[in-house]
Amino acid sequence: MARIRGRAVGTARLVVKNDRAKIGRMAVLKGYRGKGAGKALLKRAIESARKKKVKMIYLHAQIPVIGFYEKMGFHCVGRLFMEAGIPHRKMVFSPIASRSFGARQPAARSGRKCGRDSRPGQRASAA
Ligand SMILES: CC(C)(COP(=O)(O)OP(=O)(O)OC[C@H]1O[C@@H](n2cnc3c(N)ncnc32)[C@H](O)[C@@H]1OP(=O)(O)O)[C@@H](O)C(=O)NCCC(=O)NCCS
Repeated sequence: MARIRGRAVGTARLVVKNDRAKIGRMAVLKGYRGKGAGKALLKRAIESARKKKVKMIYLHAQIPVIGFYEKMGFHCVGRLFMEAGIPHRKMVFSPIASRSFGARQPAARSGRKCGRDSRPGQRASAA
């Protein structure tokens, strides 16, 4: 839960199963976006997953927010798939980013966005 001046403004959920951590339910109240709450939530979730010594941290990203996750060190794997009727890409936290959390990754630096793959495809490896 993220709070700004005591008000709950954002959520994230971490589910750990079989050495894998899945981050989900990422959302920040509209009026509080762009103030770093999402970044703080994601950072906390990654730190919690690391403490549990998982081998992989992943999430299912909606297409418009892929750039947000890329900035935080995630990269896309697999093809676009539908979840709850919404197009998603699976994204995995890069181990490179673990040395410099939040640093822009090569894909983000070069402007190569993984979210541009809008081809309908098979569902990326299962959650
Ligand atoms: C995605 C979301 C959680 C981001 O939260 P936020 O508090 O606005 O993000 P932050 O302010 O921490 O932003 C961190 C960085 O990501 C960038 N960013 C935020 N949203 C972005 C987006 N949609 N695309 C690209 N970059 C984005 C910010 O500009 C900032 O960059 P900087 O560090 O270079 O300044 C928020 O926009 C949200 O709740 N969206 C609606 C729900 C949703 O789509 N959830 C994700 C489902 S998979």
